[in-house]
Amino acid sequence: MNITFLLNGETVELRNVAPTTTLLDWLRETRALTGTKEGCNEGDCGACTVMTRAPSGPWAAQNACILLLPHLHGRELRTVEGLAPLEGGLHPVQEAMIAHHGSQCGFCTPGFIASMAAAHAEGAEDLDDRLAGNLCRCTGYAPIIRAARAAAAQPVPAHLKNSPPITAPPQAEIPESGDELAAWYAAHPEATLIAGATDVGLWITKRLMELNEVAFLHRCADLAGVTVTDDEIRIGATTTIAAVRKAIAPHHPGFGELLRRYGSEQVRAAATIGGNIANGSPIGDSPPPLIALGATLHLRKGDTRRSLPLEDFFIAYGKQDRAPGEFVEAITLPRQPDTLRCYKLSKRFDQDISAVCGAFNITLAEGRVASARIAFGGMAGTPARAKSTEAALTGQPWCEDTISAATTALTSDYAPMDDMRASAAYRMECAQNMLRRCFFESQGTATNVLEVQP
Ligand SMILES: Cc1cc2nc3c(=O)[nH]c(=O)nc-3n(C[C@H](O)[C@H](O)[C@H](O)COP(=O)(O)OP(=O)(O)OC[C@H]3O[C@@H](n4cnc5c(N)ncnc54)[C@H](O)[C@@H]3O)c2cc1C
Ligand code: FES
Ligand code: FES
Repeated sequence: MNITFLLNGETVELRNVAPTTTLLDWLRETRALTGTKEGCNEGDCGACTVMTRAPSGPWAAQNACILLLPHLHGRELRTVEGLAPLEGGLHPVQEAMIAHHGSQCGFCTPGFIASMAAAHAEGAEDLDDRLAGNLCRCTGYAPIIRAARAAAAQPVPAHLKNSPPITAPPQAEIPESGDELAAWYAAHPEATLIAGATDVGLWITKRLMELNEVAFLHRCADLAGVTVTDDEIRIGATTTIAAVRKAIAPHHPGFGELLRRYGSEQVRAAATIGGNIANGSPIGDSPPPLIALGATLHLRKGDTRRSLPLEDFFIAYGKQDRAPGEFVEAITLPRQPDTLRCYKLSKRFDQDISAVCGAFNITLAEGRVASARIAFGGMAGTPARAKSTEAALTGQPWCEDTISAATTALTSDYAPMDDMRASAAYRMECAQNMLRRCFFESQGTATNVLEVQP
């Protein structure tokens, strides 16, 4: 593959690149840009954070360890070495980190600086969220957050504002549209599709898998974005989790809040909703709310398209209803008044995969349950609906006795997984407690209700 991108203002043209080369390895081993550090090599610590953007797009903080070189085709990249203004001096976040003593051993510092500079360029106020994907073992986070706040008052350096044009010659394995992808994939049905690589990147860095044939989805512009009409919300498969969160929060704030807890800023900027569904994980965070909202999945193979209820896509653990050469094109949700409540249980609040994720779409009429769609992740080999629980609720008075009967029904819906994240018994108890919490929150009698941040 031939890749063209801007590195710290300089055009880089690479020929015959191995498409699974990580940006981190290339920066450190080929370009000797060793400011970007390797900590975990799996997207968890943020030591490798860099800034990237499409021409005229916003800057995004991304983890270089699971970003592959073809992801940069046609994009602009800034590493910590390229943040200081050309005329001399330091970037405002670098100045502030010194002034506020935000660095000790310094290993995490370049990654923090890149995350802070991306947040600074966007005028971001949610600095705790923005920095939750960067770990520091020495300093503690208070001085770093203080530095980020202090830098916010300073202007964005000119070299990070102006976005130079980049010419990226067409590449068959980096299609520019859904049509190009469909034609290529139909001819190469055994190939691996790569969207954000927040799963695939780990196959490369941790499982040391060799991927022979790959295609990258991130430049298929017509597969990205969220469209809202009177009847439905359509989410393109390559829409990042960050973009889904922003678009969905006004319609379903609980879903938006759930996605705030999805990985980190860096992971949300890379991961796509299509990848989060197509990987078939039983603990992916987007399937439970999507199923509870009655989502339809749209698949395409060549010129043939088909649609199915999202829950039917997940057949069994590791088995999805997707043929070779077929890809996820979009997800649609019917427009509806918001009655969705979502709960994520994980060992850490930020940057952790769910042990259990529950989504409750329950409507009430005259004190009774008019309809109930409930779905859980982490309770079975696939994301799945709680149909017995739904039946135990529907038509019944919305009261503690009904909730008690429904929590009993839950035990016949699932035989939960038993693994390092949680035991089966703990998962069941948590799922039952999520239903109780949903009830108490609806009554205004819950304690410890998290503030929803759309
Ligand atoms: C540090 C870290 C934290 C994470 N935290 C969370 C979390 O909190 N919640 C959560 O749910 N997940 C989390 N994940 C998992 C990961 O982000 C998701 O599974 C992600 O959504 C995958 O999307 P992607 O675009 O990165 O997919 P990729 O890694 O590019 O692909 C994943 C799989 O889907 C296939 N694929 C991708 N797009 C399509 C398509 N359009 N059609 C057909 N097949 C396709 C690929 O071929 C591959 O098999 C985390 C991952 C990391 C590394
Ligand atoms: S090295 Fe830890 S996130 Fe990349
Ligand atoms: S300063 Fe040492 S890890 Fe952060």
